Amino acid sequence: MMLSIGNILDSAALTELRAALDALTFVDGRATAGWSAAEVKRNRQAAPSAALRALQEQIVKAIRDNAVFQIAARPKIFTPPLFARYGTGETYGAHVDDAIMGGTRTDIAYTLFLQEPQDYDGGELVIESTSGEQAVKLPAGAVFLYPATTLHRVAPVTRGERLVAVGWIRSLIRSAGQRELLFDLDTARRALFAREGKSAEFDLISKSLSNLLRMWAED
Ligand code: NI
Repeated sequence: MMLSIGNILDSAALTELRAALDALTFVDGRATAGWSAAEVKRNRQAAPSAALRALQEQIVKAIRDNAVFQIAARPKIFTPPLFARYGTGETYGAHVDDAIMGGTRTDIAYTLFLQEPQDYDGGELVIESTSGEQAVKLPAGAVFLYPATTLHRVAPVTRGERLVAVGWIRSLIRSAGQRELLFDLDTARRALFAREGKSAEFDLISKSLSNLLRMWAED
């Protein structure tokens, strides 16, 4: 399942974050790519520092606190996010993300957009699937979740600068299909509750959801 969630960061938080990122050192992004992905990766990423760690924690907290994200991702472990800049001509060609990062299995990838779409041209996240390609470019403060199993790329930037945070999540639920089923069931359950309160039908759907989680979760 792919999902966009808006307003992870508000405009005040974005302004503050961009200023904090301006104070960090950015280095060649190839350092964090696998050997084959490094051949097609042309961007810059924030170098490790104490200031970077604080910003990474802030991003993870903002994403983790979102209620829709919680039921879509069912996160267990977050890898520390990377902050990446793509200037004119920079790009990241087709690649698949590493299955294991720092000992953590990567089930879900996300891109948190930090620059408004009108401030740069190109720079779409393009995800390949058997039904074609999906190009994604969201407002600043919005996050896009997609299965880490996909081939994907970042289109070349032709004007301005693309600024994003990207990260990976180990989910309690390994299978994207099972995560989607749980998400749909939970969403329907909440809508039912909003409409008619704690009915007998709500209780039965809650029981099914809870027991599917018990069946599938790797805690
Ligand atoms: Ni990637």
